[in-house]
Amino acid sequence: MISLLYCIQLGKHLSHTTYIFVTYIFVTYIFVTYIFVTFSEFHYLIFMNERQTPFTFGKVTAKIEFTNRILEREQLKSNFISGNNTIIISPRRWGKSSLVKRVILDLKPKKNVKIISLDLFNIKSEEEFYQHLATELLKSTASKMEELFANAKQFLGNLIPKISFGTEAINDVSISMNWNQVIHNPSDVLDFAEKIAIKNKCKIIICIDEFQNISDFSNPIAFQKKLRARWQHHEHVSYCLYGSKRHMMIELFSSNSMPFYKFGELIFLEKIKTTDWVKFITKRFKDTDKSIEKNQAKSIAILVENHPYYVQQLAQQCWLRTKNKCNEDIVLEAFESITMQLSLLFQNITDALTVNQTNYLKALANEETKLSSKHIISKYKLGTSANVNRMKKALESKEIIDITSNQINFLDPVYKSWLKKYYFTT
Ligand SMILES: Nc1ncnc2c1ncn2[C@@H]1O[C@H](COP(=O)(O)OP(=O)(O)O)[C@@H](O)[C@H]1O
Ligand SMILES: [Mg+2]
Repeated sequence: MISLLYCIQLGKHLSHTTYIFVTYIFVTYIFVTYIFVTFSEFHYLIFMNERQTPFTFGKVTAKIEFTNRILEREQLKSNFISGNNTIIISPRRWGKSSLVKRVILDLKPKKNVKIISLDLFNIKSEEEFYQHLATELLKSTASKMEELFANAKQFLGNLIPKISFGTEAINDVSISMNWNQVIHNPSDVLDFAEKIAIKNKCKIIICIDEFQNISDFSNPIAFQKKLRARWQHHEHVSYCLYGSKRHMMIELFSSNSMPFYKFGELIFLEKIKTTDWVKFITKRFKDTDKSIEKNQAKSIAILVENHPYYVQQLAQQCWLRTKNKCNEDIVLEAFESITMQLSLLFQNITDALTVNQTNYLKALANEETKLSSKHIISKYKLGTSANVNRMKKALESKEIIDITSNQINFLDPVYKSWLKKYYFTT
């Protein structure tokens, strides 16, 4: 502004060259100011964004919002480095993917270790599995297109009639395989990782999420036999297989009639303890210039039974409602708000249940433990004891309850609370 006034005032008296010089200074001044303002706003927005999310839920958490899991991290890291296979089992949203991602980040500096992640969420057949495995291996083990082509030719030559790629080179590569050849001789695809690890003088760790989905392929046992037969000979490749459907994962890996029996170390991921959540929540509030007493942080964890996803979601809702210091009313209001957001979903889940199944959930919500006893069967009208077992299995496969060796529990603590408060009101 000062330059502008100065320029207008003196403009008439200046020579042509000086005039151009002053105009040049003025334009530069405006440009620099513009850049400065834009960048400050940009940084402010980034800063605000970070402030808005001291907690994360609904996506894999591996950085600052990741907490605890110290033992599991060490265990997984040491298995990865020493080449032992690992199987991780827990209900969904307890933190399997986040833990694996965290360990992948921990091991990133190790140049001779290559970690490849696959998700079988959308993989419905053996063919898709081979395709997915080969594509991800090709993409992650080559740094240049030429290298990728050379690897494909050297190790998968007979199987891949076509490699297509878009503009983003390696990340955009897709391959189509000669399915007849693959199905008759899948070992080329299954041993591909081992061969490439030897060639590149590195260790490869293949992490496969939602692994239980292979049970839904046609001819699942024959397929599992093929995998096991090849994978057990791999010396430079290890596998980390994880999945959310506890009963299916246990059946796959703990039943001695199944091909993957004793394939690796089983880790049953537990929820994170209340005391650890309290430390984490109070710190995240403090880091973002707000505060919460230990008691309220404890309430957050306890209301959602330490369920990792919900703890983060509830903590986030409390944080958003807190101006300076969080209090118990805020915690309860935030919990109620989450319950209300989900009530339509809960209503639909409940509508799809039989009367007996609903009665079973009522007994469970009332903290009854002896669910097969005569007394409970008659009190909650559960039919026969054979019926109770059938219901248990049905509710487990619908992922409503979680059955462990010593207890049966709701998988979703907010659903449990909704049932108690709004559904079983009589
Ligand atoms: N170690 C952790 N620390 C903090 N939050 C976690 C942790 N693990 C999981 N969470 C929370 O739980 C959510 C679900 O985790 P995720 O790893 O996707 O679970 P899973 O793979 O078992 O379904 C994450 O988005 C995050 O909010
Ligand atoms: Mg996951």
